Amino acid sequence: MTKIEKLQGVAFLAFPEMKNLLASELADRFGYGKIVESATISGKSFASQGSAVWYGDLLYCPDFSIDSLNEDGGSLPYWARTVMAQPFLLHFDSIGEAAGELKNIQRNWAPYQYQLFRRAALIQDKLPYINLKVRKFPVNIPNSPIGLYTLLDDKTLIASAQTNSPLPAGSLQFEEDHENPPSRAYLKIQESLSLYHCFFGVDFPKEGDKCFEAGACPGGWTWVLRQLGADVLAVDRAELAPSLMSDPHVKFMAHDAFTLKPEEVCESLQCEKLDWLLSDVICYPERLFEWIKTWRESGRAKNIICTIKMQGAINWPLIADFAAIPNSKIVHLNYNKHELTIMIRNY
Ligand SMILES: C[S@@+](CC[C@H](N)C(=O)[O-])C[C@H]1O[C@@H](n2cnc3c(N)ncnc32)[C@H](O)[C@@H]1O
Repeated sequence: MTKIEKLQGVAFLAFPEMKNLLASELADRFGYGKIVESATISGKSFASQGSAVWYGDLLYCPDFSIDSLNEDGGSLPYWARTVMAQPFLLHFDSIGEAAGELKNIQRNWAPYQYQLFRRAALIQDKLPYINLKVRKFPVNIPNSPIGLYTLLDDKTLIASAQTNSPLPAGSLQFEEDHENPPSRAYLKIQESLSLYHCFFGVDFPKEGDKCFEAGACPGGWTWVLRQLGADVLAVDRAELAPSLMSDPHVKFMAHDAFTLKPEEVCESLQCEKLDWLLSDVICYPERLFEWIKTWRESGRAKNIICTIKMQGAINWPLIADFAAIPNSKIVHLNYNKHELTIMIRNY
């Protein structure tokens, strides 16, 4: 026998090892601080408390309401990789029953588990196939809905057909290359470009595209852009890895990237407009905001991707200013640490 029990509120799935950052974002940005540090409650006593409860990295908040999932502009916590928007409990006796009920609701489901891994794998085996493997860049992220479920005990799961990510459990992981890229930062730009393609329908950088990269040393991002065939003006105080310094499609300039004028950059790349403006500079977010403003107003960059590095406590009003930039999207990447990424389609 199965039974579905609708739940109030939502459940947020934190990025791995980012539970504390999600909790502080909920407190500081949303004024939501009633979190119980316990994952011991099983499905049987579930939701008997009025406070939010952790189940591994999944935080169920019975009294948190979200109005719309498709709304842009940062209405959801960035440090949640996905959200169970309409959570319910499913009580079941067998693995077949659990999978059957989920399948009746919609095709695509992904698990997030912090326990009972074997049982969850048996349920997933009975559900329609979705790709849960690490991916090879470049990735086309399908824009179809995907549900999320988590076993709380062997006969209860929490699930939601509606989530806010097209990725399984809100996470994109790449096959890693431990030999060629000069830094691990290459994973950040691979993830950003994949999401940019999904959000804005813009192609990946390609042969002949002109890219300006601020803060490029040692060259992880430049390496990805070159793999895709683009031309790069890389600016940093320190040089890039030798293989990139000798690449005829990479122009290196030892300079403060923020004092270069858009006209100078475009002249150096012999173009009217950049295809891609990129920054991974470690700087105060205020400075980055002003720099982005200059570039947006110049009209000389079509696509913009920048890392917003947090220095100490997060200035949420400033993040709201970033989020208010037209045609922009702020995300926390799977490969971001204490930072966010802003993407702007500037035309
Ligand atoms: C996180 S690292 C960049 C890593 C790089 N994206 C990669 O893929 O290898 C940040 C870089 O920003 C550079 N940087 C800091 N301030 C800068 C500025 N005002 N102009 C240019 N580069 C700057 C630093 O020298 C440092 O190399």
